[in-house]
Amino acid sequence: MTAAILDGKTLAKTIQAEIATEVAEFIEHHGVVPCLATVLVGEDPASQVYIRNKRQACERCGMESRHTTLPADTTEQQLIDFVTALNNDPGVHGILVQLPLPRHIVEANILLAVSAAKDVDCFHPENVGRLVQGAPRFLPCTPHGVQQLLVRNGIDPAGKHVVIVGRSDIVGKPLANMLVQKAPGADATVTVCHSRTKNLVEITRQADILVAAIGRAKFITADMVKPGAVVIDVGINRTETGLCGDVDYGPVAEVASHITPVPGGVGPLTITMLLKNTLTACRDQAAK
Ligand code: GUN
Repeated sequence: MTAAILDGKTLAKTIQAEIATEVAEFIEHHGVVPCLATVLVGEDPASQVYIRNKRQACERCGMESRHTTLPADTTEQQLIDFVTALNNDPGVHGILVQLPLPRHIVEANILLAVSAAKDVDCFHPENVGRLVQGAPRFLPCTPHGVQQLLVRNGIDPAGKHVVIVGRSDIVGKPLANMLVQKAPGADATVTVCHSRTKNLVEITRQADILVAAIGRAKFITADMVKPGAVVIDVGINRTETGLCGDVDYGPVAEVASHITPVPGGVGPLTITMLLKNTLTACRDQAAK
């Protein structure tokens, strides 16, 4: 039997409608419109699309979005100064510096410069530390999207073996940190695999929930999947034949019980969780 599709697009619409209601209530009570500032350095076309989608989603939920594109030759100090001005602007509640940055800028220095209270990506070391210690301020957007996609489709990670392929700071590591917590929607047994993992297939075949976040088109093939497993594809790869995930979708869908499409799976939920964090940031700042 072919796997059931985990439809991220429809779920994102549902959650965004919930957020829009909360935003409207917040504005009515506090007279403050939650505002996300986005910053792009240079003109990478993929990043431009991501930013546009994030800004459109903000507006759909009744939030403000302010965008700045800085020239590709912006120095690290200039970018830090720009971010510092956003930190000090009381009208801005969340700050997102789109990655990747040009090579002459050290990413870690920028992520450290964003005020932890406005770090809606959950990339600041303070927020990563809080997440690891089980007292998060924000949840990281893509991992939170993966969790929502599971839980809201009746798939509880508790007690399951989740195998994550990929150890990035944006997906693999924070997802492992979230799902291993003693918390609702978590409590999983988590294995993180990467490019140096030995016997990869042996491990992926043990997964009740297999998460592909490697950034290589069609890397996860049907022989790597246990029959009946849930397969979550976080990859977005641009190939000659169009957008493609990290999972070899057709053959894997014949083996899995549930699978996410690309596009229309995790992507729309990442944006949705960013909106949620922006509202959280705004609430916290209004309470001060
Ligand atoms: N580039 C790719 N994914 C992300 C993300 O989640 N946040 C930011 N800021 N940049 C990204």
